[in-house]
Amino acid sequence: MKPHLILIGYMGSGKSTLGCAVSYPLKQCLIDTDKWIEQKEGHTVSEIFAAHGEAYFRQRETDCLKAMFQEREPRVLALGGGTPLRQENRDLMKQLGFTVYLHAEPETIYERVKGDKNRPLLQCDDPRERIRQMMRERDPVYREAADYILKVDDWDLKRLVNELQEAYRHETAGHQWPQH
Ligand code: S3P
Repeated sequence: MKPHLILIGYMGSGKSTLGCAVSYPLKQCLIDTDKWIEQKEGHTVSEIFAAHGEAYFRQRETDCLKAMFQEREPRVLALGGGTPLRQENRDLMKQLGFTVYLHAEPETIYERVKGDKNRPLLQCDDPRERIRQMMRERDPVYREAADYILKVDDWDLKRLVNELQEAYRHETAGHQWPQH
């Protein structure tokens, strides 16, 4: 069986949208890890942050990645923006599949997420500066975790789906999963 296709990147980089779009030609179901956690917990990400704090949520992300080893088919996994930050998660991702970093400039991200109330980490006085600062910190980590980088500032969905599909098919031809 092929490895999962794992999408990472900052909030608003388009992981869920692109994940959904590429899931059709690949004939692989999409699992959005934020939604998976929300379903398990019976609460939204914002509610989980408010009731239990960020550390609790981060542990649920690790639980979710571990659960992905039980999937019987290769999936498209759209991870929450903070998931690759834990070394443990990056190790799990290496075993789970082919990881693609959706890279966008901070200004692109700001335009996409401004006014969004469902992202607890961006509910602050100056979200634009927060995005810049978090992206400076996260970019090297995302790069380290990635097998492939897809630039998504120019949002041409068809072109992005094609490039993503091609990279995944090329890189995973002949690979078996799980790899451990
Ligand atoms: C987070 C990203 C969110 C969600 C949570 C924390 C982050 O997911 O997991 O709000 O730390 O970047 P999206 O990247 O899908 O918005």
